[in-house]
Amino acid sequence: MVAIKVCEDVFWVGVDDKRDILFEGLWPIPYGVSYNSYIVKGSEKIALIDTVDKFYANEFLSNIEETVKLSEIDYIILNHLEPDHSGALEEVIKKATKAKIVSSQMGINFARSYYGENFETLSVKDGDVLNLGGHTLKFITAPWLHWPETIFTYRRPQEALFSGDAFGTFGALNGNIFDDEIDVRKYESEMKRYFADIVSHYSQFVLKAAEKIKSLPIKILCTTHGPVYRKEPNYPIELYLKWSSGVDERKVLIVYGSMYEHTAEIAEYLEEKLKQKGITVKSFNLCKVHPSFILPELIDSKAILLGSPTYEAATYPPVSNFLEYVRIKNVRPKTFGIFVNYTWGSNIIEQLKNKLNEIGMKVIEPTLFIKGKLTDEDKKKAESLVENVTKIV
Ligand code: FEO
Repeated sequence: MVAIKVCEDVFWVGVDDKRDILFEGLWPIPYGVSYNSYIVKGSEKIALIDTVDKFYANEFLSNIEETVKLSEIDYIILNHLEPDHSGALEEVIKKATKAKIVSSQMGINFARSYYGENFETLSVKDGDVLNLGGHTLKFITAPWLHWPETIFTYRRPQEALFSGDAFGTFGALNGNIFDDEIDVRKYESEMKRYFADIVSHYSQFVLKAAEKIKSLPIKILCTTHGPVYRKEPNYPIELYLKWSSGVDERKVLIVYGSMYEHTAEIAEYLEEKLKQKGITVKSFNLCKVHPSFILPELIDSKAILLGSPTYEAATYPPVSNFLEYVRIKNVRPKTFGIFVNYTWGSNIIEQLKNKLNEIGMKVIEPTLFIKGKLTDEDKKKAESLVENVTKIV
């Protein structure tokens, strides 16, 4: 991609990442992701806001040089130090020799630990302002979005908020960077997945940051991942607020692993019975779907039915793995039902109950421990579970 003018004296100089990789080594990105970076040209000083993944350093340097000479850059503002936004710094500072690295003190400490001592720094606090000549950049601390050092940069005039990871989305831009050039609603599922996978652990900090910026006029929202919002800058902010606030829908999630379709048979029976009650149900087989695509559905589901076969007298590894994601992502307390299928293995219901209680989840009765294929008696018990779940949702 090439440099693109955002508004007077502001240019997008980012890149798309469309490699077949896992984001953070964990999350599938079938539609890629963008790393957005911006040049702000004042009459006296020039600032670069954030960089990109080091894999794209050459393309990035070439984008910058379409707008300014690297040697002319006075400030490199790092809103967030995660290497998808700071990785190209090493290459930038080889040529931007007079640039000072501007970040929170913690951000500067992180920059030193990654990139050494070979640059000057300027540590900024909440409310500090940098004058570029005709433009001011105000720094707003917004910790834990999504690391502890994070800040927002707010530019005047033509009020633009550079918000780092906050309000971002998965999905490469493919040459169209503005929200009015694309159907942003098509990004919504990828945005929710990005929120669930990357930011949701810090939902309380999304709410705090939103409170902090709510009185600021924002004409252009420039995140580090996804479109630049100049038509509807509030659109992603409102979605993030909704997802962070924890409002459940009348929806049940069925999540299970299955080796030989017996656990799947129970899942299908539960799904059918719940749907007959008029409840929205989403069902995922962990042997086929990465947890990255399930976590967003957890955000607004009122209850989850979790199914596992016994495996070596323990929980089936894809199910344990999923619960580890639930733990690590700090998912709000939810109600779980449990169904287990076995042939000869021991009863793992207690293991699952303990694990769920440990991560703050409530377990609803009856739990189902089913040998082989579903019997009529099993079906009755499954219907009783469905009845109790229906009362909750
Ligand atoms: Fe896009 Fe937390 O880095």
